[in-house]
Amino acid sequence: MNYQKITDILAKIREKTDFIPEIALVLGSGLGQFAELIGHKQIIPYKDIEGFPVSTVLGHEGRFVFGEVRGVKVAAMQGRVHYYEGYDMEDVVLPVRILRLMGAKTLILTNAAGGINPSFKAGDFMVITDHIASFVPSVLRGPNADELGVRFPDMSSIYDRELIARIKESAKEEDIDIKEGVYIQTAGPNYESCAEIKMYKILGADAVGMSTACEAIAANHMGMKICGISCISNLAAGIAKHPLTHAEVQETADRVSKDFERLILNIIEKERLI
Ligand code: HPA
Repeated sequence: MNYQKITDILAKIREKTDFIPEIALVLGSGLGQFAELIGHKQIIPYKDIEGFPVSTVLGHEGRFVFGEVRGVKVAAMQGRVHYYEGYDMEDVVLPVRILRLMGAKTLILTNAAGGINPSFKAGDFMVITDHIASFVPSVLRGPNADELGVRFPDMSSIYDRELIARIKESAKEEDIDIKEGVYIQTAGPNYESCAEIKMYKILGADAVGMSTACEAIAANHMGMKICGISCISNLAAGIAKHPLTHAEVQETADRVSKDFERLILNIIEKERLI
């Protein structure tokens, strides 16, 4: 990986802000509104950072929002870039790597995902317990940047067990039903065929999406404490009885956005107390 590129972009950001985040938060499709709750904000659009990958997806703002939530310094990504947009994996995970180098030790990943587990319904939340990333290229392919992490990093406990337990507590306190399960990442941008979803189910996946696992790998490589929350925006192909659309994904995310906000606020509050 091109470590120089990462540090060059970090230097560009450091010309604009000396903000040191405690928590990094990636806001997925339709979940970007959470950034409105960030106080004392400083906003940096990705397009204003020379060399930074810019998202092209509807519903993704494409900017960093730095500020405070419940007394915790938070760096939120309002929108992310995806592999399906044509970027190399190295560019897809560059923002997460930058956030770690800015100081964030904890990473909260969020996304919209299709529900594979038959007990899930659209509008549910799922805390990610593990992932399957075997269907997309590894973000760590190529020369290793020893400054970031080891060549062959362990991936046996990517999602922090204590954080998962606290997220479940947060959900309970907020009276939000939360599922748990395995997230599988596909390359996209097409949704899956019914046969693919059947296969993913057999492989042990509970939800499917086009992001997140690659970011978790990059962050784990750098030693971050990671958690992930999926908004089940639709039932996956073949489980849903109708064709899938991006509009449905956005509508569901919009519908549950207030619950999502309460959940994330509670999680951040708990992190503050740790
Ligand atoms: N498949 C893949 N990605 C998704 C889906 C889906 O059904 N829903 C939201 N993101």
